[in-house]
Amino acid sequence: MIKRYIFGNPIETDAILCKPAIAEGNTPFFKDGHIRISLSDKDIVYGLGENVRGINKRGFRYVSFCSDDPQHNEEKSSLYGAHNFIIVSPAKTEGASTNDPMGIFVDTPGKVTFDIGFSDLNQIDIQVESGSFELYLIYEASEKEIVRSFRKLIGPSYIPPKWAFGYGQSRWGYASSEDLRNVVRKYRKAGLPLDMIYADIDYMDHYKDFTINRESYPDFEELVSELKNDHVRVIPIIDAGVKIESGYEVYEEGVANNYFCKDENGEDFVVGVWPGNCHFPDMLNDKAREWFGLKYKTLLDMGIEGFWNDMNEPAIFYSKKHLSEVFEDLENYKGANLDIQSFFEFKGLIFDIDNNMNDYRSFYHEYKGQRYRHDLVHNLYGFNMTRGASEAFEKLVPGKRILLFSRASCIGMHRYGGIWTGDNASFWSHLLMNFKMMPSLNMCGFLYCGADMGGFGSNVTEDLLLRWTAVSLYTPLMRNHSALGTRDQEMYRFPDSAAGFRNLITARYRLVPYLYSEFMKAVRDSSMMFSPLAFVYEDQIAAEIEDQLLIGDEIMIAPVFEQNASGRVIYFPEEMKEIRFEDMKVIEGQLYEKGYHYVDIPLGVTNIFIRPGKCVPVGECVFGIDEVDSAKITMYKFPGNGESKPAEYELYDDDGISLPAGVRS
Ligand code: GLC
Repeated sequence: MIKRYIFGNPIETDAILCKPAIAEGNTPFFKDGHIRISLSDKDIVYGLGENVRGINKRGFRYVSFCSDDPQHNEEKSSLYGAHNFIIVSPAKTEGASTNDPMGIFVDTPGKVTFDIGFSDLNQIDIQVESGSFELYLIYEASEKEIVRSFRKLIGPSYIPPKWAFGYGQSRWGYASSEDLRNVVRKYRKAGLPLDMIYADIDYMDHYKDFTINRESYPDFEELVSELKNDHVRVIPIIDAGVKIESGYEVYEEGVANNYFCKDENGEDFVVGVWPGNCHFPDMLNDKAREWFGLKYKTLLDMGIEGFWNDMNEPAIFYSKKHLSEVFEDLENYKGANLDIQSFFEFKGLIFDIDNNMNDYRSFYHEYKGQRYRHDLVHNLYGFNMTRGASEAFEKLVPGKRILLFSRASCIGMHRYGGIWTGDNASFWSHLLMNFKMMPSLNMCGFLYCGADMGGFGSNVTEDLLLRWTAVSLYTPLMRNHSALGTRDQEMYRFPDSAAGFRNLITARYRLVPYLYSEFMKAVRDSSMMFSPLAFVYEDQIAAEIEDQLLIGDEIMIAPVFEQNASGRVIYFPEEMKEIRFEDMKVIEGQLYEKGYHYVDIPLGVTNIFIRPGKCVPVGECVFGIDEVDSAKITMYKFPGNGESKPAEYELYDDDGISLPAGVRS
């Protein structure tokens, strides 16, 4: 049962496809402008998609406001996505209340604060900054059913081409065609598979969208087709900011047609991003969005079949206006004796310059026939950039799947593209945090997701990259990406571990028949590919486990997240059978009884645990995503105690490139 309530004058977000009628009567939980829900001790709160901390969101305050924050850690409250959906799940212990779980979606494009047991341990307090929003309360008998109802409300998830389940290498800093060729060559030489190579901002001419730097990428088109013949796709980045430069077509057209965001005086708003002074296309304006989306044609015509949309929170280094104010203010400090107060004021002038809230309050959109100040519709920007591209692909290459994922997002965007979880760092804690995001993202409709494998910022270590590979091989997006200036992170940089990496990537290919099936079924059935254990098992220990997940109905995974560990303690909520991927072989491992067991998992090895009565298709050992053949599989079964019925599995497969009928309706 879904109940919909309206407060104030909400701005339409297009998150919900089919709105139920407005509920009658008073809104439960609403008091003094806040939504307040009491929690019992063991209740769990799930959701919020891409955000910091755990699967159980209790104990912290989160702010839904798409934020460019590469330095994120536990004290941060916002990441690149803003996903306003939570599930309050009552404790499942004996004697606990028998209340059913409840889903809550706060539909609004501006800032929302979710205080989930932060100010008061036993209370959820949700506050919408604008005061205007639509509230959806979803009541079903289980968390899975809540997710299904919610996902039906928000519409079907994006489907990438099947080849996007391959392995990709990226790095900010590949400066030329030769750099990209070299990376591919070195992967091949080391006997390591590679299916995609990502072109970061340097392929562009002075960071201008839809242009090519012909000095360093003189043969871009040849590069794309040559690598494609070698089964490697080139995936370029597209940034939100458009460089101000007379004669640059995108800039000229944007100005001529009023396609850029305006300041309070109706002038095109000037911000600084990679190329220096830029304008933001008004992605919320239908015409501008369509225009910008159709620009991707330039690259499609060069043989490109996939894109990543970046800096679309939108990230702002500075606004021209604020920058000049800062320079003026700095003058006041010249030669001054800086005491504690004035020093921090001085420092703040520079520190607060990027992604400044005043800048977000200084420009405007034309959205659905009205003018809106940016901060009120902030979370829609990345969504609509990606939507524009996706809608253009439907016109330009009808019926063909194009790989598309974005950094910023809000619910609704899941219909148009996937996401990567933004700029993380080579921290063991980020590996675990990214793992925990997977079920939360699935709840919100984001199925094609993954983190920067190995970590974007900071210097990776060999063992971290191996462990991260052993996690990313399960996520639909499997991309190794790192930042300029950090330690080189391509797998071939660690020759002593080549065998381990090779084993892990080929394990990925062996599992693609299963992972792709589970992904497509999750799209079709509005279900989750990754679930917390508590969505299936009703025991208190399972409810608290956050470093193990279920994939589909068949398997549990429990990777290693600690440095220097050669295995880990795993909780088995029921008896399970291990399948191990080691030395390029598939090994039928031990049976583990219900309870805790220490499982040996050396570097370069990965394992899955099959549930009783289930079976899993495992493919052959191949060296590229294009070689994966879902017809050539071996079924690994675990009948389980007392099971007489043979295990069955619904294998989904298709041509991987055309839009499948009946999956997205
Ligand atoms: C942003 C992106 C990152 C990219 C960099 C340069 O930080 O999040 O992935 O490498 O910009 O384009």
